Amino acid sequence: MRVFQSILILGALRHQTVARTLPLHGGKTPEQPFVIESDPTLVASANANLTQFVNIFVGTEANNDPGDVFAGASVPYGMAKATINVEGYAPAGYVWPSDQPTRGVSPLHDSGTGSSDGSYGNFCIMPVLCTNNAIDACPTLLDPRKRLRRNHTDHGRPGYFTTTLDNGIKIELTSARRSTLEKYTFPAHEMQRMKSTPHLVLDWTNDSPGTFRGGEMKADWEQGRLMMNGTWLSSFGPGDFHYHAFQCVDLKFNGKQQLSRHAFFGGNRQGYDTKRTDLDHWVRLAQEVGQYQAGAVVGFETNSQAEQDVTITIRRGVSFASAENACRNMESEIGDWNFDATVAASESQWEEKLQRIQLSPSTPDYIRRLFYTSFYRTFLSPNNATEDGPFPTTSPYFDGMYCTWDTFRTLFPFLSLSSPVEFAQIVETYIDGWRKEGWLPECRANQVKGYVQGANNGVPVLADFAVKYAKAAASLGVNTDELYQAMQHDLDVPSPQWEYEGRQAGPYQLYGYVPFGYLDPASVGEQTREASRSLEYAFGDFTAAMTAQALGKPEEDMQRYAKASLNYSLNFDRHTTSDGFTNFVQRRFANGTFMASDPTFCSPLDNNSSHACSLQPENDFGVYESSSWEYSYYAPHDRNGLVQLMGGNATFEKRLDHFFSKGYYAPGNEPSFDTPTMYHFIGKPYRSVQRVREVVNDNFSLKPGGIPGNDDNAAMASLLGWFLLGFYPTPGTKELLVLSPFMPAYTINNPVLGKATVTVTGYDERSIGGTIAKGVKAYVERVLIDGKPHGSRCRMSFDDLFPGQADAERKVEIVLTENEIDGCGDNPADEPASLSTGGFFEFQEEEKTKA
Ligand SMILES: *[C@@H]1O[C@H](CO)[C@@H](O)[C@H](O)[C@H]1NC(C)=O
Ligand SMILES: *[C@@H]1O[C@H](CO)[C@@H](O)[C@H](O)[C@H]1NC(C)=O
Ligand SMILES: *[C@@H]1O[C@H](CO)[C@@H](O)[C@H](O)[C@H]1NC(C)=O
Ligand SMILES: *[C@@H]1O[C@H](CO)[C@@H](O)[C@H](O)[C@H]1NC(C)=O
Ligand SMILES: *[C@@H]1O[C@H](CO)[C@@H](O)[C@H](O)[C@H]1NC(C)=O
Ligand SMILES: *[C@@H]1O[C@H](CO)[C@@H](O)[C@H](O)[C@H]1NC(C)=O
Ligand SMILES: *[C@@H]1O[C@H](CO)[C@@H](O)[C@H](O)[C@H]1NC(C)=O
Ligand SMILES: *[C@@H]1O[C@H](CO)[C@@H](O)[C@H](O)[C@H]1NC(C)=O
Ligand SMILES: *[C@@H]1O[C@H](CO)[C@@H](O)[C@H](O)[C@H]1NC(C)=O
Ligand SMILES: *[C@@H]1O[C@H](CO)[C@@H](O)[C@H](O)[C@H]1NC(C)=O
Repeated sequence: MRVFQSILILGALRHQTVARTLPLHGGKTPEQPFVIESDPTLVASANANLTQFVNIFVGTEANNDPGDVFAGASVPYGMAKATINVEGYAPAGYVWPSDQPTRGVSPLHDSGTGSSDGSYGNFCIMPVLCTNNAIDACPTLLDPRKRLRRNHTDHGRPGYFTTTLDNGIKIELTSARRSTLEKYTFPAHEMQRMKSTPHLVLDWTNDSPGTFRGGEMKADWEQGRLMMNGTWLSSFGPGDFHYHAFQCVDLKFNGKQQLSRHAFFGGNRQGYDTKRTDLDHWVRLAQEVGQYQAGAVVGFETNSQAEQDVTITIRRGVSFASAENACRNMESEIGDWNFDATVAASESQWEEKLQRIQLSPSTPDYIRRLFYTSFYRTFLSPNNATEDGPFPTTSPYFDGMYCTWDTFRTLFPFLSLSSPVEFAQIVETYIDGWRKEGWLPECRANQVKGYVQGANNGVPVLADFAVKYAKAAASLGVNTDELYQAMQHDLDVPSPQWEYEGRQAGPYQLYGYVPFGYLDPASVGEQTREASRSLEYAFGDFTAAMTAQALGKPEEDMQRYAKASLNYSLNFDRHTTSDGFTNFVQRRFANGTFMASDPTFCSPLDNNSSHACSLQPENDFGVYESSSWEYSYYAPHDRNGLVQLMGGNATFEKRLDHFFSKGYYAPGNEPSFDTPTMYHFIGKPYRSVQRVREVVNDNFSLKPGGIPGNDDNAAMASLLGWFLLGFYPTPGTKELLVLSPFMPAYTINNPVLGKATVTVTGYDERSIGGTIAKGVKAYVERVLIDGKPHGSRCRMSFDDLFPGQADAERKVEIVLTENEIDGCGDNPADEPASLSTGGFFEFQEEEKTKA
């Protein structure tokens, strides 16, 4: 998804930014992303330590298509994601470069989201010094306390983050699932200059978007423990969707630190900062609206004459259930207060995840870093809030599905390669959403429902799991009957409010598309996004058909959903023309007449900044966060059908080329994800390889600006992951398009399905740049599976990749050629599957269905 200005004002197309050329972390200039210092001894032990190849700062640049990636301390799926909050545009707290002041360290963030005001950012802790050690001089409010940080002091790796403020105070963070351990080192010279001992400000009320709606703070000064709770508004939902968050902070470092003083502070709107040292309890009622400044400030005793730096260590727990839970979380997760051990524990959790895909030691260093940096982010979200969710449940609870429209295409299929256990837990969260709140979550974040973006895209997530893991589902904790029930409910029952969940099932079933200008009393929502919703509904239906097939559900279900999915073509208006090409998706009235608009609206080339491109009520062209140019390529289940709709192979190729060369392609926008590989459907798989090389080269790098848009909960990371491994998925199916890997070999370790080892015969490092020179081997000539020729050079099944048992190994050999070979193979089955040309499964005759 793209970036929103304060929840729903502006589409990201309008994110105006200034180009900058500032040094990279470590002083490398942005012009030299390929030059990475690598310690040869580390590379030699390449597969022993994979976290070293992760750059946690990729995607943190705030300018030009910001990636909004969280950079800080988190474990895989950490509910606690600790980093600094800077002012200005910083949806995930941290941004690069470092030209905005820091407000403090918050333990709650999401990664790669599109709300420009940010998500979470609550409970900032800021290290401060107070002139002459006077408590009244402690800067506690947002403005007085904020500080720039020193250039080139941001460093981090999975599980650890550090930066240094311009007064020399060093911040170091690490975390466990729901707790953090934080070190603040105050330099001796600065304490002397200020005549101050170390202090910490603990903000109670401010989240990043400034939406406090009341709460409570209480202190046990004897114990050195502060508990806080509050209510805030969700970052991507209606104003009446709010959430509660809780934290518990221990200030005494297991008795190794003593408080010298403490106070509660409250700011009034004129900027006065009032402090009281006699309080230990404060309840702020819910009617308080907007930014409200309050919290606590504490001072620490030091060995006063010692001319040494002082490190203050604090521990905190967070919860979405209660402050008591927050305390328990930190006590159980960081019982020993050992910072290095907590870093090491986090690192080893990351290492365990990254080991699931091992690249050949002769993989180019840059590719290795690109891969593991992306692979790391695929485990950063959603947030595992199990046992701390907003409703009681015995199921896992994950939050920050921000949003499913972004992640169903590439993230969950990527997870399916190596991580069925995690995938199953997240799928169970979707199913549990239906159990507890009636519908599959679509953009659940901040513990509450969010807005539906494209459609109810939880359906293809469930489908992807069902088709790949039906047999193992029960042992992975997923009941496939319930999965199917939840899915059917989401598809067939009209949602009273389709903007939050489910779909406008009534008119869609009646007309085969969502009509524009239609009064639908059963399913209320803005009359927007009709064309793109219709396409998403159709694809959802298709994945339900695949699910019915995989789970052995009634044949008639499968037939019904499959037929419905082919109705996607009803959205194409053959009278709409753009740049000489015809047939574009458009809004359509119930009577069949199209309500056409310019297919370039909201494309990267659209200069009219007044067009509403996102979920605003003013979005008046029928497509969500994309142009019709882009969305007209969207029928992943029937791409051969699309080729026909667009006029056959030759015209399709011209149109696809034009899409890229003219600039309608939006590499950071999900509906564009499929397009580089669509040459597979006109028998030119080598053109897909060329496009993918170009996109990886042009739009991805290891720079802070190294992704072409919002990471969207690792949608972008997983897209790059697929491209690098040389495959591309169709979600909800086992279908994989075969591309050309960027490395000579790799092994995927799947704990359920076994080992997949892919080797690339003829791999040539010269082929991985933006253009492939003549005579360089880059294109797939043939594929061998366990030594046996596989008919197609374009496609294979997920089942071809894996042996199907945990202790077995499958060997896939991809043989490259320098020749641009037309065609996929000798048999129709060698073509990538498309529903209308006989792929995926067979339709029954009408008679048979009736019989
Ligand atoms: C892995 O490498 C990183 C970077 O060199 C280093 O900080 C870390 O300690 C190493 N981890 C292990 C377990 O060796
Ligand atoms: C960081 O570097 C930038 C650009 O080089 C400079 O403008 C800024 O003043 C520096 N910040 C600090 C805190 O030194
Ligand atoms: C915060 O804590 C107080 C005291 O336990 C409780 O009354 C209040 O309901 C809590 N607030 C929330 C949002 O849970
Ligand atoms: C989520 O947390 C629960 C509770 O600790 C744990 O059992 C589960 O394995 C975690 N899941 C993932 C994917 O990290
Ligand atoms: C497909 O669209 C037609 C209208 O053209 C509609 O009558 C039919 O019910 C739709 N098919 C399905 C299976 O929904
Ligand atoms: C279809 O309905 C629209 C909107 O009511 C109307 O403008 C159009 O003329 C109708 N078309 C036909 C063929 O009746
Ligand atoms: C946008 O503006 C540029 C320069 O003014 C113009 O060349 C281009 O055609 C415009 N694009 C669209 C889609 O209107
Ligand atoms: C820009 O778009 C707005 C909203 O669609 C429209 O009202 C306006 O006429 C357009 N401006 C131009 C110059 O095309
Ligand atoms: C279009 O390309 C497909 C895929 O290579 C091929 O099967 C089909 O025969 C081609 N169609 C025509 C009319 O050439
Ligand atoms: C992708 O790369 C192309 C070619 O360098 C460039 O024109 C385009 O702006 C890039 N897009 C994004 C979103 O980074």
